[in-house]
Amino acid sequence: MMTFDFEPLVPAGAPAPTAKWKGLARYNFIGGNNDPDGVPVEGLTAAAQAVLTREGRDLATYGLNSGPQGYRPLREFLAKKLARDAGIKTSFDDIMLVSGSLQALDLVNGALLARGDTVICERDCYEGTLNRYKKLGVNVVGMPLDKDGMRMDVLEAALAELKAKGVRPKFIYTIPTVQNPTGTILSLERRHQMLALAERYGVPIFEDDCYSDLTWSGERPSAIHALSKTRNVIHIGSFSKSIAPALRVGFIVAPWQIMARMLALKTDAGSGALEQMVLAEYCAAHFDTHVSELRKRLQKKLDTLVDALGEQFGTAAEFDYPPGGIFLWVKLPDNVDIMRLNEAALAAGVAINPGPNWSADPVWSRSRMRLCFASPSHEDIRAGIAVLADVCNKEFGVPTRSANVARSGNA
Ligand SMILES: Cc1ncc(COP(=O)(O)O)c(C=O)c1O
Repeated sequence: MMTFDFEPLVPAGAPAPTAKWKGLARYNFIGGNNDPDGVPVEGLTAAAQAVLTREGRDLATYGLNSGPQGYRPLREFLAKKLARDAGIKTSFDDIMLVSGSLQALDLVNGALLARGDTVICERDCYEGTLNRYKKLGVNVVGMPLDKDGMRMDVLEAALAELKAKGVRPKFIYTIPTVQNPTGTILSLERRHQMLALAERYGVPIFEDDCYSDLTWSGERPSAIHALSKTRNVIHIGSFSKSIAPALRVGFIVAPWQIMARMLALKTDAGSGALEQMVLAEYCAAHFDTHVSELRKRLQKKLDTLVDALGEQFGTAAEFDYPPGGIFLWVKLPDNVDIMRLNEAALAAGVAINPGPNWSADPVWSRSRMRLCFASPSHEDIRAGIAVLADVCNKEFGVPTRSANVARSGNA
């Protein structure tokens, strides 16, 4: 049969086509996936049954009876939770539910960015965010981090330098609480400093807070949004990391002026209502118990990963033990070209996230990788890291010892 050729019809400037999905690697350390055993399946099933029985007829109306910002009981849950946990005093009216915080990124970007604009972000940063800026033709100025998050001395200098060049960045994008990929938490003092700088230079802050429920201690500093006195912060969050990413439920907290702009860009007649209804029903009763269990579960996985890296890589793998989250940001010796390791590891069934995709500075991140420890089992973490060490040794001669036994090393 002749196959119709669509290609000549695709307009110039369309994104490059996506490669077909070939399944997950045998040892999968990539993506922001969660622990399958941590999904509260029974609770979600009961919540679905209860809410559908009670309110299922509302599905007949676009947006249920809640309007374009999403299911009101879930927004009410969020308003209470944000006040209690993040110090954000807001009403359900200032919250919009979206299809994962990825849609939040698109809406904020759509409302504020044009080709040639400049944004500031952490030097090591979420790939989904960096890719969006690249696609939009936006200049990215990456700020280095230390153990307390983005460095404010460098931010101050960068803002001054940009101003001297006549550039006013559109916003400072930050993942302040359990940063992706470094896992750092921006200290309270620096949150105040960032706000002072933002106000001085007339630059708003875009706070991406999707990991903030996952600190091992259960403690977190107030959100930057909560500390602002001028309502210059757009705050986004997600249920992907606290409940499950495939649900695709995220949210935006923003002043009405910019919310109204984003609503005008959200042309899908609302995000999936069933997920929002089930989450509202489940979270009102069970969120806290679920998340405190999940934190323990995730930290145990992190400990297995740290152990496996110690055993297989020894001192060749350097990292700071993160205070929460689902990722470990690892530095290998300088001679390891992580893009090459990535390819060789994939061929051996191990998927890692190479640092250059997670950084505004590909030279700095050349020997770094991000490992997600939430989704593989404890056994797969151990076995996967052993295979990775083998591949790394064959390609680069490191690590030279594993489990205290010398390796020959070909490189
Ligand atoms: C910092 C950050 N922002 C946004 C997202 C997108 O998450 P989702 O769309 O699942 O809410 C992720 C996912 O890993 C992330 O790490």
